[in-house]
Order: sequence, then structure tokens, then C-alpha cells
Amino acid sequence: MPSGGDGKTDPLAGGSKGSSALGSGGAGTTFVPTEGSLREAADGNGRLIGAAVAAGHLSDDAMYKALAGREFNVLTPENDMKWAATEPTQGTYTFGLGDLLVKFAQNNNMRVRGHTLVWYQALPAWVTTLSGDQLRQAMIDHVKAVASHFKGKVYAWDVVNEAVSDSSPTSLRDKDSVWSKLGPSYIDDAFRAAREADPEAKLFYNDYDGEAQGRPKSDTIYNLVKGLLERGVPIDGVGLQMHLDPRYLPPTDGIRQNIDRLVALGLEVNITEFDVPVGQIPGDLAAKFQRQAEIVHDVFKLCVAQPKCSAITFWGVTDKYTWLKDPQFMFRGMGPHYPLPFDESYNAKPAVAAIKAAFAGN
Ligand code: XIL
Repeated sequence: MPSGGDGKTDPLAGGSKGSSALGSGGAGTTFVPTEGSLREAADGNGRLIGAAVAAGHLSDDAMYKALAGREFNVLTPENDMKWAATEPTQGTYTFGLGDLLVKFAQNNNMRVRGHTLVWYQALPAWVTTLSGDQLRQAMIDHVKAVASHFKGKVYAWDVVNEAVSDSSPTSLRDKDSVWSKLGPSYIDDAFRAAREADPEAKLFYNDYDGEAQGRPKSDTIYNLVKGLLERGVPIDGVGLQMHLDPRYLPPTDGIRQNIDRLVALGLEVNITEFDVPVGQIPGDLAAKFQRQAEIVHDVFKLCVAQPKCSAITFWGVTDKYTWLKDPQFMFRGMGPHYPLPFDESYNAKPAVAAIKAAFAGN
């Protein structure tokens, strides 16, 4: 088997010794385009395949709207259910854009993954001025109001998003998060409030850079959710964002081991924000997209092999609209990154054939 990653695997990456890098499994494979949509391929496997969708684009781009409805059987609101969008003023809720996404999903027989109730970003200024009991109560009120409004309309919630620190990945965020004022118990409170408001929704903890066992953040997330379960806090799953950086790919075996240990706790695992920026992949565009397809193929293969890896969602629909075009998120090296399965003209890239191949067992 050719070794993948061109020696660019992260020296910090965990996993068993000698494990292959993500993307090496499909190396050299030509992914042949086939008929049918991604969602048909996913339905055949009893899985969800999703994309982050923005209400604004549904309104102003008919081709985007058609593509999203045709190819995906679940959507995540990219921004329209975040705190700043839903409770810009304390106690005044604005659900218009979220409702629009729910309606679109219903019209297209798609599910909705709610994103996200408690995050340290996308907060209106009023939240950051609170502390102590007022802050805790505001959080609980927000979780209950938003989860109640969308009750029966979202099948899952990313209840708490990105609680773990980057600079000190064995602990929770500190100064950069308003929630640190409450101590770790805010996470328990958020999950309990969400369960109370919508007992049917699956409740997830969601984070990035926690994909592979052996990385500090993965272990912290594992211990965090294990602690929640031990304390009887209601949680059903972990979202692995999978915002990959091809220069530092997590090892395939490490990801598999991490998913397996989370499943062994009784949890579901979803890949929630998948994208593969190609800016730093060597070669011409065709070579970059081929390598992207290999990486996507490996992730789908390992998810399809694990029945509790029930959903994979991309962080967008088309390369035309991706958060990685925004200069403030240029942290994957020089672009352009073209990180999604459909190109800027809405055509299927090699990654689409790779996904179908994985669903077909190839
Ligand atoms: C990003 C959106 O894509 C951007 O449009 C927005 O400006 C910032 O947030 N992790 C998450 C997502 O959980 O909510 C983030 O989405 C990307 C990183």
C-alpha cells in the first residue's frame, strides 16, 4: 500500500505505531462518477449525509437551493440558529431564519441538526457582560427557549460547542470563553436544560481537533463526555467537526480508535463539519481534487464501517460559499481552498464519486 500524506502527517498525531495517514487507503484510486445523488447512496446505508446551509443563500441562489435539496438528507444551519441570530436582545427571540431552514428541510424531506446552543462565539454583547447566577440563568433560559421552539423539528442538537481549550488542550477554555466564569458545571446545566426542553432530540457535544485518539484534545473530549455520563447528564453523542488540514492529517487508525472508544461509552458519533481545504496540497487542481477525494473516501469508509457513526455533514454545499474564503479564517495556509464536494459552478468533484464508492462498499 503506498504511504499517504507525502510525509506530512502530524508528528503530534496519535494512533498506533505505523498507522497510515488519512487518504492513503484510496491512494491512486480513480473515482468514477456514477448516477444518483449522495442522499440516495446514504439512504441505502441508513446514514445521514448533510451540509451546512445558510438561509440567505436559499433565498438568493436557486441553483444552491436545488443542489442542497437534491444531494443531502440532513442540514445544519451554518449560522442561523446561533445565539447572536436567535436571541440578539435578552429575552427577545428571532427565529425567522431558523424557521426558514426548517421549512426548506421539511419540503425536501431532510432532517435538521440544530447548531448550536452554547458556544463561546457568535454571542451578542449582552451575554458577555453578565456573570455569576445571571449568566447561568441566561444560558439556561436560552437553551430552553431555543430547544423548545424547534422541538420536534430538529432531530439533534449540538448543545455545547468547542468547550475545550486550544492553548491548553487538556483543559476547558479559560479567558477566551465567557463560560469559564461558570466553571465546568455550565456544560451539565446546558445538557440538562436541552433534555428538559426537547426530550426527543439527540444531544451532542461538538468540537474540532478531537478526531484521533492520542491527540490531547481528543482525550480531553473523551474524558469530558465520560464524566457527563458518569454524573447522569443526558448526552447522546459526540460531533467530530473534521475541519481537516491536509498538512497535518490525523491518522486513520487514530480516528477509528477514537470513534470506537466513544461508541463503547454508549454514544453515537457524527462527523459534523467536514471540509478538506486543498490550498496546501501539491500539484495542479486535478491532483488536489484527487487527493481531496482520497481523504474524503477514507473518512466515509471508516464511518460506514461503524454503525454508530450515523451522520456525516460537510461544512457547506459548494466551493462558491465556504467559510474558508473569509480572510479571518485563513488558518489552513494559502488558498484557494475549494474544500467541499461541489465546485463553484455546482458540479460534482471527484469527492462525490469517492463518497458513493464508500457507500457502495468500495
Ligand atoms: C462558522 C461559519 O461557517 C462562519 O460563516 C461564521 O462566520 C463563523 O462560524 N466551528 C463551528 C461552526 O462549530 O459554527 C463555525 O462556523 C466553524 C467552526
